[in-house]
Amino acid sequence: MKYTIKNICCIGAGYVGGPTMSVIASKCPNINVNVVDINKEKIKSWNDLNLENLPIYEPGLKEIINKCRGKNLFFSSDIETNISSADMIFISVNTPTKKKGLGAGEASDLKWVEASARQVAKFASGHTIVVEKSTLPVKTAEVIMNILEASQPVGEFKKKSFDVLSNPEFLSEGSAIQDLENPNRVLIGGENINAILALSNIYMKWVPKNKILHTNIWSSELAKLTANAFLAQRISSINSIGVLCEATGADVREVARAIGTDNRIGSKFLDAGPGFGGSCFKKDILNLVYLSKYFGLPEVANFWESVVTLNNWHQHRISNLIVKKLFGTITGKKICILGFAFKANTNDTRESAAISICKDLLDEGAFLSIHDPKVSSKQIEIDLNSAPLSTSTDSLEILNLNIVESSWYFADNIIDSIEGADAIVVLTEWPEYSSLDWGKIARSVRNPCCVFDARSILKKEDVIKSGLNFWKIGDGSKSKK
Ligand code: UDX
Ligand code: ADP
Repeated sequence: MKYTIKNICCIGAGYVGGPTMSVIASKCPNINVNVVDINKEKIKSWNDLNLENLPIYEPGLKEIINKCRGKNLFFSSDIETNISSADMIFISVNTPTKKKGLGAGEASDLKWVEASARQVAKFASGHTIVVEKSTLPVKTAEVIMNILEASQPVGEFKKKSFDVLSNPEFLSEGSAIQDLENPNRVLIGGENINAILALSNIYMKWVPKNKILHTNIWSSELAKLTANAFLAQRISSINSIGVLCEATGADVREVARAIGTDNRIGSKFLDAGPGFGGSCFKKDILNLVYLSKYFGLPEVANFWESVVTLNNWHQHRISNLIVKKLFGTITGKKICILGFAFKANTNDTRESAAISICKDLLDEGAFLSIHDPKVSSKQIEIDLNSAPLSTSTDSLEILNLNIVESSWYFADNIIDSIEGADAIVVLTEWPEYSSLDWGKIARSVRNPCCVFDARSILKKEDVIKSGLNFWKIGDGSKSKK
């Protein structure tokens, strides 16, 4: 049985597969890493000579691509050949929440994982270690193994054999390269120690041995869901306290700082914001909910479901609050949205709070100018399911005619986006938003204009000094009675 790894194939060139394989290639120059994807456009972008055109934005990524691409890191649509030559295959395909059928709205849709497993079953040769890297419900490795085993001809000499490992990804977008190069831990779940060691040896090229944890396969899968559920729970907890702060005169930042010094609690993941987004938190919690219901544990299911319920409520709370503060109506009013990504330093918008907040504001008749330094107009169009007005100039002309209800345009620069605005809403904590010239801005808005800081990154005194009204998440200091 062959446990020396010379060729890796990763199925799925997305936010997980792309950065993870780039770091493996850069740390293991003797291993050939082939990243494949059914999306030919995406592969074309990964191979683009202009590194600004890579399909994902991640600090530090283009430097690694520049160093390794074409040497031991390759992006290709030739799935069959690369599966066939691989000693180890990572499955990094998307696993969104199911939209219909059994478990709709909760369970993950495994159709892409299943399709990948079938491709591996068909094209693999010799012995292959299959590593599940996508975030998956518990027992998915079993599904993959069943598909791989079922592909073997009955009664004939087996030409192919497989090991399946779970190696969940803990990288956080925006700091993915840093997280991959210096992980808190690497978790490997599996049954066959030789396969586990083969994967451990790859990580040991740069990760200290004591950070590589071996568990059984189900613990590994459940640990991933649990880590994300715990992190998301902290955000719903602090956001719920923020609402209480607004009502009572406390400041959520002061409360967070006070509780964070307790080392049993810790200071991270206590920033109140517009609600958590990203591809993992909601999906993983809903997986836990589904799993708990499946095993007849409604109390456990309800406990975790409440984290998502609070998050959804919180996002709508912010849009309602904007309407209320703009005198109960925003029809035809211009609202400038600063930030559309689900967090800073990424172009990813999956589950971004900005989507539901913007949709609410459009439903109320607002005219939005949306700015984000990394998210494209096309992506926002897909997320809002609404085409933008063609240019900001056209839009402003239309604004004067007062026929711009429920529409939006993509603002290339911050100053354009703010011009004539009745409100400015910060939804993503991009650093450039924290150093704006509020004196200058105050002269170009339509008064009375209100600034909403849902990320708590603006200097309150500067905004207030410029004569603009100001609201900040979790800050009740003005509402004290
Ligand atoms: C998360 C996990 O952190 C990572 O380990 C896992 O592998 C994938 O899911 P990611 O979704 O990339 O990573 O981003 P993360 O930094 O966890 O932020 C998730 C959401 O929570 C973002 O919308 C962010 O703005 C929000 N958040 C985070 C807060 O509102 N407050 C905080 O204090 C931290
Ligand atoms: P993640 O955040 O989990 O990486 P992404 O959506 O960014 O999710 O990336 C998943 C990638 O997997 C997509 O680029 C998609 O085209 C690709 N993919 C899905 N199914 C297959 C498949 N059967 N073969 C190859 N690639 C696939």
